[in-house]
Amino acid sequence: MPEKSNYSRRLFLKTSAMAALLAAIPSSVKAFYNDVKTFILPRKTVLPVKISVNKKSYELKSDSRTTLLDVLREDLNLTGTKKGCDHGQCGACTVHIDGERALSCLTLAVMVPGKEVTTIEGLADGEKLHPMQEAFIECDGFQCGYCTPGQIMSAVACVNEGHTNSVEEIKEFMSGNLCRCGAYNGIVQSIQKVAAR
Ligand code: FES
Ligand code: FES
Repeated sequence: MPEKSNYSRRLFLKTSAMAALLAAIPSSVKAFYNDVKTFILPRKTVLPVKISVNKKSYELKSDSRTTLLDVLREDLNLTGTKKGCDHGQCGACTVHIDGERALSCLTLAVMVPGKEVTTIEGLADGEKLHPMQEAFIECDGFQCGYCTPGQIMSAVACVNEGHTNSVEEIKEFMSGNLCRCGAYNGIVQSIQKVAAR
């Protein structure tokens, strides 16, 4: 018995009908679709960007669509700030902007001129670690370390904000920082230790 062909008469008719339908779409509809696409996907625009990171000024040329996270890691080689989800879900990219925590994957580089950005590299005082960095070491606040820079930046902000009155409050205000290794107990203890100073 001859092998059955994959191309049936029905498939041929369906494909022909689809092609005819596409050809029949008026050019005004196609132009409208292109306009919508252009609106949703803005064109590349390279702009001069002057930013201050860890009290050092940088002048760059950057695509207006580039995130602060990518500028930090790719242009400034400050790779301490980690890219986890790149969608505002994990907290690995947390930095401080004018002293407040921010997700650098959701912040465009063109939004920060005139503001002071602090990354994990800017937390220590020369060779002397920040108290939160010391506490993370003493309390086993990490395992693989991938989430740790973001956890520490959030933890410092959590203490500065005064959200350390109970374990529940700490957990609530650290809930935007995920740790796949499950080092949460050590993280909470680190924050309690620094808050008690
Ligand atoms: S990388 Fe920014 S929140 Fe996950
Ligand atoms: S220490 Fe591994 S993800 Fe948090």
